[in-house]
Amino acid sequence: MSGCPFSKPAFPMPRQCPFVPPAEYRDYQQQPGPVKVRMWDGKDAWLFTRYDDVRAVLGDNRFSGDPHVSGFPSLSPARNAVLDLEPAFIRMDPPQHGHFRRMLTKEFMIKRVSEMRPRIESIFSRLVDELLEKGPPANLVDDLFLPLTSEVIAGLLDVPARDHGFFQEQSRLKVLLDVDPSIPKAASDRILSYLDRLITERAQDAEKRTDLLSRLIVEQVRPGHLTHRELVIMAELLLMAGHETTANQMALGVFSFLTNPDQLQLLRDTPSLLRNAVEEMLRFHTIVHYNAFRVATEDVEVAGQMIRKGDGVIALISGANHDATAFEQPERFDITRKADHHVAFSYGIHQCLGQPLARVELQVVFASLFERMPGLRFAVPLEAIEGKGDHFVQGLEALPVTW
Ligand code: HEM
Repeated sequence: MSGCPFSKPAFPMPRQCPFVPPAEYRDYQQQPGPVKVRMWDGKDAWLFTRYDDVRAVLGDNRFSGDPHVSGFPSLSPARNAVLDLEPAFIRMDPPQHGHFRRMLTKEFMIKRVSEMRPRIESIFSRLVDELLEKGPPANLVDDLFLPLTSEVIAGLLDVPARDHGFFQEQSRLKVLLDVDPSIPKAASDRILSYLDRLITERAQDAEKRTDLLSRLIVEQVRPGHLTHRELVIMAELLLMAGHETTANQMALGVFSFLTNPDQLQLLRDTPSLLRNAVEEMLRFHTIVHYNAFRVATEDVEVAGQMIRKGDGVIALISGANHDATAFEQPERFDITRKADHHVAFSYGIHQCLGQPLARVELQVVFASLFERMPGLRFAVPLEAIEGKGDHFVQGLEALPVTW
């Protein structure tokens, strides 16, 4: 166990290597139960990093995901500012959570999302054509992955192409952790005002349109199941959750292949490993690395530890996905492993709604990226590639490449 045995470790712990979870998680996994950690505001929380424990917490609705319940742990002042905003269903407990989530489940079912695959392939192919035409170098985050994931989610909601840069920028600001709290709050206000206007306009001819927002207006808002404001907040969640995460995962996936050429060769030789490879990159990077914060709404025993009502809990999926009892040699990026049981999309009622879409997007990219750009390599020394240290979602600041 690292650190002084009498003081509580401070959370979050810095990463020793930007692309690997902090070594402390491994230490904590050697002993049963959680570890008490100290947050920036001087309050304590229970930190769970073991695979089975993380699933036990996330699968138990006696732990609330509502940041307004007393005792909910605080990650940083900037994060508080985001959590203080009007909540989307990602921050709600049952039964409200299910009421809103059910309105969207059929949209993101595997079958429905599979029908989107040809469109995603054609957007990706066009963007790669444009990049090849322009020639190297390129920053794959800004020049390929954000445009791709933005166009996919914006297409679903029918958000005009000219506004993609605007919502990408607001999403980037909203997940910053170590900034003045007014920054993420203002970003959220801007995107909510924008969506408020868009949805007001859309309501005028919603019945003639087929996009998701129009259908929600007709099927949910008009009959009174959803208010205009609730739809605005739901749309923000979809827009934000739907592009930044997946683009970050794509960048880190490329990073992993370029730094593990044997794995890239394996994928080239055995294309049937594609699905495995995508699950492995999701596991390995677990980009929503500070998920999930919870608070006990009653006394609950987990892994032999009594968690008292009002205690803050952090059930770290990034810890769980690097627990050696669930994934042999977790620090290895190994596309032949069976990683399907990872919890990169979380677990329990808040498990990612968009995961079928994220998977299809990732599969489309990694099915052909290295064939279309056979000489793809970093355009700068490896040390110059920076991880997004102080973001709620892990990623790369930029991915400068040439080919
Ligand atoms: C690689 C890409 C993605 C990753 C790793 C990811 C990860 C996650 C995680 C960990 C959660 C749980 C959050 C929590 O408990 O606070 C979540 C929730 C959610 N994600 Fe994703 N996500 C990805 C892509 C997407 C996409 C493409 C969408 C599409 C709109 C999406 C929509 C959502 C929504 C709506 C929720 C809230 C679910 C609920 O609370 O019931 N995500 N995601």
